[in-house]
Amino acid sequence: MKNKKTDDLPLLKRTDFALDFRWGCSTSSYQIEGGVDLDGRGESIWDRFCATPGHIRDGSSGAVACDHYHRWPEDLDLARSLGTNAYRFSIAWPRIFANGRGLAPNQKGLDFYSRMVDGMLERGLEPWVTLYHWDLPQALQEQGGWANRDTVDAFVEYTDVVSRHLGDRIKHWITHNEPWCTAFHGNYEGVHAPGLKDVKTALQVCHNVLVSHGLAIPVIRRNVPGARVGAALSLHPLQPASDSAQDVAATKRHDGLRNRWFLDPLHGRGYPADIWRILGDKAPVVQDGDLATIATPTDFLGVNYYFPEIVADAPGVGVMSTQVIESDNVERTAFGWEVSPEGMVTLLGRLAKDYQPAEIYLTENGSTYDDVLSPEGNIDDVERRRYLVRHLQATREIVAQGIPVKGYFAWSLLDNFEWAEGYIRRFGLTHVDFETQQRRLKLSGEWYGAFLKGEL
Ligand code: NOJ
Repeated sequence: MKNKKTDDLPLLKRTDFALDFRWGCSTSSYQIEGGVDLDGRGESIWDRFCATPGHIRDGSSGAVACDHYHRWPEDLDLARSLGTNAYRFSIAWPRIFANGRGLAPNQKGLDFYSRMVDGMLERGLEPWVTLYHWDLPQALQEQGGWANRDTVDAFVEYTDVVSRHLGDRIKHWITHNEPWCTAFHGNYEGVHAPGLKDVKTALQVCHNVLVSHGLAIPVIRRNVPGARVGAALSLHPLQPASDSAQDVAATKRHDGLRNRWFLDPLHGRGYPADIWRILGDKAPVVQDGDLATIATPTDFLGVNYYFPEIVADAPGVGVMSTQVIESDNVERTAFGWEVSPEGMVTLLGRLAKDYQPAEIYLTENGSTYDDVLSPEGNIDDVERRRYLVRHLQATREIVAQGIPVKGYFAWSLLDNFEWAEGYIRRFGLTHVDFETQQRRLKLSGEWYGAFLKGEL
């Protein structure tokens, strides 16, 4: 391994984990593909959102991104060279239905993903597909987007087409990525597409997304014998800012919307009553049978873990009158997110205790730092490497506690389009020069590869 500056790192070996543990990297379509006008792809809400000045910090978009649409063989080679055995990617819905729905899917879009899935299998990478990682067809947004119940039907039709075409080769299906972000970043905070700022809309979006998850499951199972299905949630361990009754109650409310609002209905408990009461007339319209639909049994829970939050009471602030406090003296990534592998241990312990999922996969975990490209072309991202090592140690500890974590997917294989942050925030184990599209494995990527290949 080039540059063996690993002395300060705790010992960790792949053989500490089960033989069938899934090791992968995660990506998503809009963040890496580019090729937004090619082969019949329609416009997505992200193409539209990026076109408005001020939405994306560096004024960029995913129009070219990592040019993965053309360079995917090279990128899959890279994933294989790391020694991973699984690869998580997402399908761009507007490549399959340019306008969101229709009688005939776009064959060229299906062929693109079909070739790529073959490419994964040829390289020994088990495909883990996400059906919705935020690039909704703009045409559906014109009709109200996820706030319109018709989008649920459109999602189920799209799921049907994709699972019929790719289900002979893909066994692992993730319906939605981070529904909290879809709903709240996109429709309440307005910082993600479609850029709305309306809490009632956000809550209806949230509900409709969850219903679409539940309705998609039997469709996938029908089309894919032996399918394993779940959703990937963004979850956060929370702590009150003080012992005061106010902060403790605020933390419970915050947890209610950030975590329990998803976990409870997905596990058959309906929406948390305490939060429903607070929402009053902002609560979503729920049709008969919806809660049973949302609770359709899954095979695994996907957890995207990044950071914990410290919560204080803040009357009138946000939906739950809560505020996230930036505590001093904690280690942070360049995003300001607290680095806390202990938080991941706490979170997964809580999930196992409160919800008993049969299997958990860490479908995303990663960090952004201000990488420096040396004149020799190296990226010595010791902080990202340390973040990775510490979170894998935490994963080992979680497994040792008997919690059924069965896989880890690093976010991300490549530096990519980080949504509202554009190309400013780099999360990759691989550096991408966005001028030349040259890929360079960072020190963190080298470490992951050495760990996975037993070369440490
Ligand atoms: C979670 C999202 O799923 C992904 O798209 C994003 O890039 C990472 N978090 C980092 O913010």
